[in-house]
Amino acid sequence: MTFSQLKTFLEVARQGSVRGAAASLLITEPSVSAALAALRDELQVPLVEREGRGIRLTAAGVELARYAAQILGLAEQAVRRTREVAGQAAPLNLVAVTTAGEYVLPPILKVFRQAHREVQLRMEVGNRTTVVERLTAREADLGFGGRPPEGRGILGVPFLDNELIVVAPHDHPLAGERSVDPARLAGETWLVREPGSGTRETTQEFWAQHQFQVASAMTLGSNGAVKQAAAAGLGVTLISSHAVAAELASGALRRLPVAGTPLRRSWYVLYLEEDPLSGSSTKFLELLSSPGAHTAVTEWFRGPGVVPA
Ligand code: PGA
Repeated sequence: MTFSQLKTFLEVARQGSVRGAAASLLITEPSVSAALAALRDELQVPLVEREGRGIRLTAAGVELARYAAQILGLAEQAVRRTREVAGQAAPLNLVAVTTAGEYVLPPILKVFRQAHREVQLRMEVGNRTTVVERLTAREADLGFGGRPPEGRGILGVPFLDNELIVVAPHDHPLAGERSVDPARLAGETWLVREPGSGTRETTQEFWAQHQFQVASAMTLGSNGAVKQAAAAGLGVTLISSHAVAAELASGALRRLPVAGTPLRRSWYVLYLEEDPLSGSSTKFLELLSSPGAHTAVTEWFRGPGVVPA
């Protein structure tokens, strides 16, 4: 069993097909199949089975994938730590939920990079499940999300305010009002992010809290799609103010002064509780807990637009 075989197998597990794994790893499909066959022959158990036109993991395959993620993550950690002990800066692997990765982290990365050019940075953007998976598999050093972690040995430290507001097209009839009762929005079309996103969960909680049955909702798979659809007049949406600063400043979107909003939340940095932090991770955490991170984000939004209060 080699690292390369395990890496290939894990990618098959994540992509759900040989073709997907080959494309993601930039190798040929026969190489992927050969790695699967070698693992199956060595372990003497079937790891994948056909499902329609694709494949899925057997129960044994699911177990191997779990170990593969941990083995590869630990190996990566070993490389990082060994280099660090020898005086080299460890690379920093980050994983962030969409909104944090798209809007909050870039200005912070800029400040970090200016101070620590020696640290190689990489950031993956995904949903909450991906963030937790990458952290527990030790494929990422630090994660970022809009919700505190739920157990699983992950520590979450809030580092920045995250305000969620309701926005609408610029000519929405309620935009000029002083205060809007949430119940008045039950009849609107709500634009919501994809299942698995933190923003969608927060939106559903908001609906439940105000006990309204939404008459019409449209799911759109990204902040960009939600914003464009809202600007085009398709509906209203609850979204992090960080994600719409530019559109509010340009006037493409208007904030609706809905009672009970903004919802005041935090952005969290997440990491494994029991693992020692690398020097690079410690430096990043120091930046997050300093006024520098807050200033970086605020200044950034003064460029494309002011963060709405
Ligand atoms: P999202 O996460 O970008 O996946 O919606 C934001 C959040 O967790 O609040």
